Amino acid sequence: TSTLKEREIALAPSLMTMDLDQFKEQLTFLDTRVNQYHIDIMDGHFVPNITLSPWFIEEARKISNLPMSAHLMVTDATFWVQQLVDIKCEEISMPVEVTNGVAFRLIDQIHDAGLKAGMVMNPETPVSSLMPFIDQLDSVMVMTIDPGFAGQRFLQVCLDKIVELRRLREEHGYRYRIQMDGSTNLAHWKMISDADPDVYVIGRSGLFGLTDNIADSWKQMVQEYE
Ligand code: DX5
Ligand code: ZN
Repeated sequence: TSTLKEREIALAPSLMTMDLDQFKEQLTFLDTRVNQYHIDIMDGHFVPNITLSPWFIEEARKISNLPMSAHLMVTDATFWVQQLVDIKCEEISMPVEVTNGVAFRLIDQIHDAGLKAGMVMNPETPVSSLMPFIDQLDSVMVMTIDPGFAGQRFLQVCLDKIVELRRLREEHGYRYRIQMDGSTNLAHWKMISDADPDVYVIGRSGLFGLTDNIADSWKQMVQEYE
């Protein structure tokens, strides 16, 4: 079995699940321990929720030096990509379900700004939906829950896509990093680490919700995964 330390797994804490009353303490603590932050941006249409925003990313940057990875769950990808390019958000992941007709333009726009371009797939969306531009992606995110909320049912079937993406990358020499998002916690750890994504998004059940103090939660998480 693998441990967090041995594998040097890249963790991306999902900041929509942090305790807002400990905003600064949590970011200060995590900054030296994780690789990037995961910022969920929703519009109330693509999913029935509204969470973080480009403004939130700018506030987080006053405390953190880590790359910000935005996870868009919005219908109007063109509008939100522009907002994120404007603030130079280091990595921008778009929902592939809404980018038909604008995907190449948006990927180019993100790259022209010197930023990383990614696509996210809903649980029902197959890897084949990425094929036209898969060679141009810096990141592919596999949702392992229905998008929109933390604390939902883990969809084990989606892990097959991680395996498929690793195989395709190997075969064709693609460069994307594979991220997984949704219900990353002890109960699913074995299955997830067998699928072997490059970046684990970790939220309430896996980290922030373990205790009411980030140092204790971190300690518990690291112990659990050993
Ligand atoms: C939900 C978000 C996730 C969420 C994960 O749509 O994309 O990033 O924060 O939270 P957990 O890991 O608690 O399911
Ligand atoms: Zn997310």
